[in-house]
Amino acid sequence: MLVVETVGLTKDYDYGHIKRSRRRALDHLDLSVEQGEIFGLIGPNGAGKTTTLKLLMGLVFPTSGSATILGLPVDDPEVKSQIGYLPEQPYFYDYLTGRELLHHFGELFGLSKPVRKQRAEALLEKVGMSEAADEPLRKYSKGMTQRIGIAQTLMNEPKLVFLDEPMSGLDPVGRREMTSLVRELQRSGVTVFFCSHILPDVEALCDRVAILNQGKLIESGRLSEILDVSIRSVSVVLEDVGESLERACTECAIDVHRVGARLEVSFAEGADFDRLLPAVIEGGARVVSVTPVKQRLEEHFVREVERAGES
Ligand SMILES: Nc1ncnc2c1ncn2[C@@H]1O[C@H](COP(=O)(O)OP(=O)(O)OP(=O)(O)O)[C@@H](O)[C@H]1O
Ligand SMILES: [Mg+2]
Repeated sequence: MLVVETVGLTKDYDYGHIKRSRRRALDHLDLSVEQGEIFGLIGPNGAGKTTTLKLLMGLVFPTSGSATILGLPVDDPEVKSQIGYLPEQPYFYDYLTGRELLHHFGELFGLSKPVRKQRAEALLEKVGMSEAADEPLRKYSKGMTQRIGIAQTLMNEPKLVFLDEPMSGLDPVGRREMTSLVRELQRSGVTVFFCSHILPDVEALCDRVAILNQGKLIESGRLSEILDVSIRSVSVVLEDVGESLERACTECAIDVHRVGARLEVSFAEGADFDRLLPAVIEGGARVVSVTPVKQRLEEHFVREVERAGES
């Protein structure tokens, strides 16, 4: 079942006070997200990711095109009760404490006091904010604000969550916790739609991704389809390499550099290294490691965005 669908979704913003102009932030976007998947929307700054989420949340209105969530128009009141949304810059009522904020959202969703209490406490624990729960939000660091924001997003036990840069501001431990939280949501049947600039996290989490550039979709699909998963090169680390072996490496490798007593060599493919292996052993060198290198999302992203910029 499709839980999010956009057809020709387009948004022009007005800008300029004296001479009114319009800027196209999103240009005929067609997207679909299946139930239960983790879907990542990526793209450079200003690509239209936040605009897409705001259109889906009904916070801004499309210039043309349409969108549905759970099969309903985005402004259907039924939709609001079933989804959670973490905005890019959450501006909470900063005089509230973290705990009060969760209760406030619980009230908005019409939860009874005992249910609010039980969910708030469980979520505070889950996002590691139990200790700071009684401090006002204005005293929170960026990462703490982000954590309480996630807890707020989950107060109504949504079927579908939209997260705008959920990893931003989190320390490495926080990022790892967020990654496992997103996986846990998926395991419990929640669909996750998020945008992020942290591509290794996107790569580790997403079933499918879409790449936006200047408001246009340049690519979408399963990671295994859009990335070239074949081994592209082999990175070999050698120790005790004599002069003649170093010369042989330089001749047949794509990249060689020395780090202390070690030589790091990149071969275009495994075969090049296989040919050199007898010389390595004869020359008395030691193989410290051999690592196959596959294409990463980051590399693919930079190439696709550059290519889109040229055309
Ligand atoms: N309220 C607004 N009024 C005018 N222009 C806007 C408004 N909001 C966004 N834009 C423009 O729309 C384009 C897309 O912005 P958007 O915030 O969707 O990008 P983004 O992909 O989320 O970028 P980032 O990675 O920096 O968060 C940009 O050119 C931006 O300047
Ligand atoms: Mg954004």
